[in-house]
Amino acid sequence: MSFSVRRVRAGEGERVRELRLRAVSDPAAAMAFLTTYDQEIARDPAFWDERAASGASGDAGAMFIAETADAWIGSATVLVRRTGDLDHTGHRLRTDHAGIVGVFVDPAHRGAGVIDALLDAAADWTAHRGFDTVGLGVHVDNARAQGAYRRAGFVATGEEFTTSIGRERAMTRSLRVR
Ligand SMILES: CC(C)(COP(=O)(O)OP(=O)(O)OC[C@H]1O[C@@H](n2cnc3c(N)ncnc32)[C@H](O)[C@@H]1OP(=O)(O)O)[C@@H](O)C(=O)NCCC(=O)NCCS
Repeated sequence: MSFSVRRVRAGEGERVRELRLRAVSDPAAAMAFLTTYDQEIARDPAFWDERAASGASGDAGAMFIAETADAWIGSATVLVRRTGDLDHTGHRLRTDHAGIVGVFVDPAHRGAGVIDALLDAAADWTAHRGFDTVGLGVHVDNARAQGAYRRAGFVATGEEFTTSIGRERAMTRSLRVR
């Protein structure tokens, strides 16, 4: 299967929406995503246009998508939080932080390297913004995602925290050139 990864483009809100609806319909969604199908389906087109626009340019974040010749098959988004912003646990950040969210690969294309390419694109973008690490949170029971993250160079930090989906484990990947 041939696929490529690129940053989303402004104007692709409808495709961003369609991929997100597929993601939140996944059997693993309840331990993977902080929003539900009902929440996502209720949003108006302007929300998705804004999500595409903010994912496409600027330094606050970047959304990457994987695509074959005829379909989008996965995504990963980097969100940058600045010193003083609230983190995922409601605490104020003491340093700038880059984290990956919205990780999804279509079931028909799993185990084919798509996740590695998405994470590499996200890491590359983050490194170019001067960060030494990129982090993420993964549900303690989401063994498949943890396996993919470990293979891609993420290690558990030892920190665990609770969100609306339950207990999550923090993982981080070094972006320093070895
Ligand atoms: C998470 C996700 C992006 C990973 O992509 P993928 O293509 O399925 O990942 P891969 O199959 O390449 O890698 C999974 C790894 O976990 C391992 N694994 C799979 N199922 C496992 C299980 N039940 N227990 C332990 N390890 C498991 C695989 O062997 C593989 O590791 P290896 O390459 O060292 O053998 C994809 O499964 C997905 O979209 N899941 C639903 C949404 C989700 O969970 N998103 C992440 C939110 S944090």
